[in-house]
Amino acid sequence: MARRPLMAGNWKMNKTPSETEAFLATFVGHVRDASAEILLIPAFPSLDRAHRLLAGTRIQLGAQDVHSEPNGAYTGAVSGEMLRDVGCTYVLVGHSERRHVFGDDDERVRAKLEAALRSGLLPILCVGERLDARRAEATEEVVSKQLRTGMDGLSVDDANRVTIAYEPVWAIGTGETATPDQAQETIRFIRQWLEGSFSADLAETTRILYGGSVKPDNAAALLAQPDLDGALVGGASLDPESFVRIVAAAEGSDAR
Ligand code: PGA
Repeated sequence: MARRPLMAGNWKMNKTPSETEAFLATFVGHVRDASAEILLIPAFPSLDRAHRLLAGTRIQLGAQDVHSEPNGAYTGAVSGEMLRDVGCTYVLVGHSERRHVFGDDDERVRAKLEAALRSGLLPILCVGERLDARRAEATEEVVSKQLRTGMDGLSVDDANRVTIAYEPVWAIGTGETATPDQAQETIRFIRQWLEGSFSADLAETTRILYGGSVKPDNAAALLAQPDLDGALVGGASLDPESFVRIVAAAEGSDAR
């Protein structure tokens, strides 16, 4: 079965609602005929505005984080139900900045992933090793632990709703991209892990994205890798023209 590419822009703590509106005024028209699925992940205050402006388009909306509880005394936190209500279909869980800046450990990431599933959101589970782990050739060990705590024991139905993003921490926002071979190798490993832990069927159908300094000039070579099904793009998704070019790099990469 062909896996449709997913091209996601993670805006992190960038763009006000007005800036989101300005971005969309340029972006939407340029990607109308794109064959890839497109996902925008703005900051919480921009979600509602984006949702209204995206009505009638096929562009999906996602959030950068979700709390593990459905409601209650959690000042500053946002629940899955709230995200659904402002039009989100996807949510990132375990992004490396959440793990390393905000201290989300594997257990919290798991709780967030389950909360996302409970509220009907599609989680994008982010995994990836730091530079010291890569140098110590411990990439597979780190990634498989993140996968295990993130997904072990999920029902097949739930596991089917998870997208995985492989984002080597050393490549995020650094301008240093994993080579297409490095990305392919780890993503192949993730697929094998899915096969061993769930089924060959799940390994075949799960979309696995690459993230970490994806730019217009390296996107096509990354997307040409057989196991890579799209990109999670930070910095280069902030400029509409640049993100349009990255989305265009996915054209024709879905023939598998
Ligand atoms: P980057 O960020 O493209 O700016 O490296 C990717 C990410 O954090 O998802």
